[in-house]
Amino acid sequence: MKQEQIRNFVIISHVDHGKSTLADRLLEITKTVEKDRLKPQYLDMLELERERGVTIKMAPVRMFWKSFIFNLIDTPGHADFAYEVSRALKAVEGAVLLVDATTGVQAQTIAHLNLARKTHLSLIPVINKIDLPLANIERVTKEISELGFDPKEILQISAKTGQNVNRLLEAIISRFPPPLGSINQPLKALVFDSFYDLYKGVVTYVRVYEGKVRPNDRIKLLSAGFDAKVLEVGHFQPELAPSSELVAGEIGYLKTDLKDPQKIRIGDTITLFNCSDAISPIPGYQEPKPMVFATIYPLTGKDLGKLKNALLQLKLNDASLTFAPESSPVFGSGFKCGFLGVFHLEITKERLERDYQLDLVITQPTVDIKMLDNVYYEPYVRLEIVSPLHYLGKITDLAKQHRGEFESMKYLNQQIILTYRIPLSEIIIDFYEQLKSVSSGYASMDYQLIGYQKANLTPLEIIVAGEKVEPLSQIVPKDKALEIGRRLIKKLAQLLPRQLFEINLQAAVGGKIIARENIPPLRKNVTAPLYGGDVTRKKKLLEKQKLGKKKLKKLGRVEIPNDLFLQLLKR
Ligand code: GTP
Repeated sequence: MKQEQIRNFVIISHVDHGKSTLADRLLEITKTVEKDRLKPQYLDMLELERERGVTIKMAPVRMFWKSFIFNLIDTPGHADFAYEVSRALKAVEGAVLLVDATTGVQAQTIAHLNLARKTHLSLIPVINKIDLPLANIERVTKEISELGFDPKEILQISAKTGQNVNRLLEAIISRFPPPLGSINQPLKALVFDSFYDLYKGVVTYVRVYEGKVRPNDRIKLLSAGFDAKVLEVGHFQPELAPSSELVAGEIGYLKTDLKDPQKIRIGDTITLFNCSDAISPIPGYQEPKPMVFATIYPLTGKDLGKLKNALLQLKLNDASLTFAPESSPVFGSGFKCGFLGVFHLEITKERLERDYQLDLVITQPTVDIKMLDNVYYEPYVRLEIVSPLHYLGKITDLAKQHRGEFESMKYLNQQIILTYRIPLSEIIIDFYEQLKSVSSGYASMDYQLIGYQKANLTPLEIIVAGEKVEPLSQIVPKDKALEIGRRLIKKLAQLLPRQLFEINLQAAVGGKIIARENIPPLRKNVTAPLYGGDVTRKKKLLEKQKLGKKKLKKLGRVEIPNDLFLQLLKR
């Protein structure tokens, strides 16, 4: 098939605006997947994605319709995964911008749109969920047109019922350009993802810009500096379907004889070995930057090797995950890991526990704080919040409490777009939940790292049974040290199981104790001293007792539950 008949595109949107559902409809209409095999959110292949109802990994797919080939890359919507979106954008010519007809434009709609415009993609704005009684097409049309679109270009669809989805396919054909690039030039292909599977080995996802690649070709990975033999090439149906070649304009996969997953770098440029001198790498590609750090320890020391292998495997499918060995006198050996955000951390933890059957202890997430000439510097982000005007007061208060500095406010029809500079550390824990709560669920947010800024910080030490606990100690804003110290100690007192002896808990700043609590010693029947009939407390205590029976890590003489750190974060 000719290049003019190929359309490569992504669907971009805020979380839950319906990308995966639209992808399902496209698979159905193009008969790529038989209707009876089509489970909802077909492209969300990971079990975890289905359970959470969110897309973490993009799954490319090739579809045929009216003598055209459509290569769709489904992308994640969550702020933590903006990097995955940026990779996908480089592999396509067009983006379908999907906006929910009931909620309208949200923070990530704008963030993704900006990214797509920066990448010079053609755009089709689409209002989705028009079947819903609460759909407000007029309002949402106004909002989208204020983002710089002509109201006449906006399509209205229901990804659920399939209404007007045919029209969207027609628009993709007429409004998105076909890929350019000559099949007769030397091979130039971009690695936009890779996937490791125990049986299939390393599967590399590529967009071919120039030339062609076939089995038995000798290729070179330009940035990594390795060469390899191609064993198989093919397309995504969405299952892997081998073919005889991949040519300029196509999106597909290749398998090579490279055994080491680490040699395939996301963003690398692939060419044929014998013309590697003539090809310059595809520019503008960034390494993903971890923003949030936490140390992961195996519950039992003998699992350290297993944890390392699991992390190595996860890293292949997730270029943004970083890790390095770390050891602590209390927890033994583990890995300090870097994540894009707390959501990314939680997903990684769940995968390690579920897919690799590991029991883990994870420390409280922190950001990377630098100290220069006795002055602390911490990472700041530019935070964009989109909300109905009504919540302006409450959002302003929330941002102030979290050291946010107001930058600007813009109107988007009946909504506002607020911009702040704010320390990353202030938004990684439960800022998003608080924002949702003060805005009755209406406000949304997105952020980008902008660099380091001076800050008035101090180390806060946590002392349990006379021993300083490094993984619980942290660097905090000076004027918040007392509040944070008290809260941590109080929570610890609730979370640590009682022992046969009394446990003293203390928080200290600069050698001065600023908060203390005691956990009384354990009695035979833990529920006996409770005032009559408080069932929930009783249940809680019994659960704690049950936890106590599980294998626990020891903090000096004190045993700690392995979800302690994540529990500490919850208010
Ligand atoms: P992420 O993968 O988390 O980014 O979400 P997404 O954008 O892929 O959204 P998804 O397709 O998972 O849809 C979110 C919810 O909206 C699901 O419950 C869908 O059933 C529902 N939904 C999607 N499109 C429509 C639609 O056209 N009409 C109605 N009524 N519901 C829809």
